Amino acid sequence: MAVEALVTPAAGPLDPEEIRKDFPILSTLTSRGRPLVYLDSASSSQKPQAVIDAVTEFNTTYNANVHRGIYEIGERSTAAYEAARKSVARFINAPDHHEVIFTRNATEAINLVAYSWGRRNIRRGDAIVLTEMEHHANLVPWQLLVQEQDGDLEFIPITDDGVLRLEVFEVLLKLRPKLVAFTHVSNTLGTINPVVEMTRMAHEAGALVLVDGAQAVPHVPVDVQAIGCDFYAFSGHKMLAPTGSGALWARRELLEAMPPFLAGGEMIREVHLRRSEWNSIPWKFEAGTPAIAEEIGMGVAAEYLMALGMDRVQAHERALLDYALPRLQAAHPDVALYGPMDTSIRGGVIPFNIPGVHPHDVAQVLDRVGVAVRAGHHCTMPLHERLDLPATARASFNVYSTRSDVDALVDGITEVKRVFGIQA
Ligand code: ALA
Repeated sequence: MAVEALVTPAAGPLDPEEIRKDFPILSTLTSRGRPLVYLDSASSSQKPQAVIDAVTEFNTTYNANVHRGIYEIGERSTAAYEAARKSVARFINAPDHHEVIFTRNATEAINLVAYSWGRRNIRRGDAIVLTEMEHHANLVPWQLLVQEQDGDLEFIPITDDGVLRLEVFEVLLKLRPKLVAFTHVSNTLGTINPVVEMTRMAHEAGALVLVDGAQAVPHVPVDVQAIGCDFYAFSGHKMLAPTGSGALWARRELLEAMPPFLAGGEMIREVHLRRSEWNSIPWKFEAGTPAIAEEIGMGVAAEYLMALGMDRVQAHERALLDYALPRLQAAHPDVALYGPMDTSIRGGVIPFNIPGVHPHDVAQVLDRVGVAVRAGHHCTMPLHERLDLPATARASFNVYSTRSDVDALVDGITEVKRVFGIQA
């Protein structure tokens, strides 16, 4: 069935109840017989039937390696893999699908840039500007790079509400950094950063810009040409696609100039005993057999989201936040909520703490009533240090999230308080 036939027509608000019918896992029960209330999509999203079917169809009817077999199923596999690249390129409005490199996830995409571009271009004393809210995936690769190359890291600080302080960014840019790398949407606080403005500021100071889009592509419209950045990294598994799929988009001239990241089969044009020549982009960066079924699934996920309309997805999640934040505050005024309260600059992520209860205990009791949230530092330890929090519990939305999910969370928090003897 065509993806378009599986989703609501692209007009008016999204109907999450209709959308939920496409996600088989959402009608399952937990082992305690509770309906699954999945509020951990920032960690990994659920998959629609269209994506599951695409992976199954590959494995059952045309499983073969890509760019190798001159036989029917090999050609079909190559065509589907390359069609997925075109879908993903269209999804982020890349000017050329050859600029989309398939990777295992956003982490691998950022590492690719740090190893390939970074080791060529970062020299002693060069600065890279990051932010205090980065996921470890957009921090640790740069730590390794500057340790090796003797460069420096600088950080754009945040306000207590989790908004970047652009006036300090302006000052940091006077250091003439080589690269500015920041998240589009914070995985922990939900903050939607002003990527267009930040990219313009960085370019005016002569820096290249890498955007970590892992938490943006599932939730907000992304247009890399409108952003104007140089690198955009994202994972498939948070945008309804299988785990093991992901992509890096980068401007052609940068990719052409960059040396390969991983080496082996597929990424070469010619190999001799003592030298080799590289394949053209994007294949120069896709050594070895890729995650074929997963990337085909990512192409279907991109088509699914485009058929829904990313502006409608964003509006749906914002409406849910506008419902959830006041509802939580009214029902549980003692619960601490973090992140910007202005939902025009916030994605569907709600970090919280119940005073006197460790977030792991919160998550465990919520799990007993069927509500799945993440607890811990969410791969942002420096951000938690900045906010002076050892950990948080975090609820997060996706296209299939509903007001009933929010209600279940509110009731679940009441249950946590009951278990820990906290007065309501
Ligand atoms: N980065 C993922 C999260 O925020 C794993 O949970």
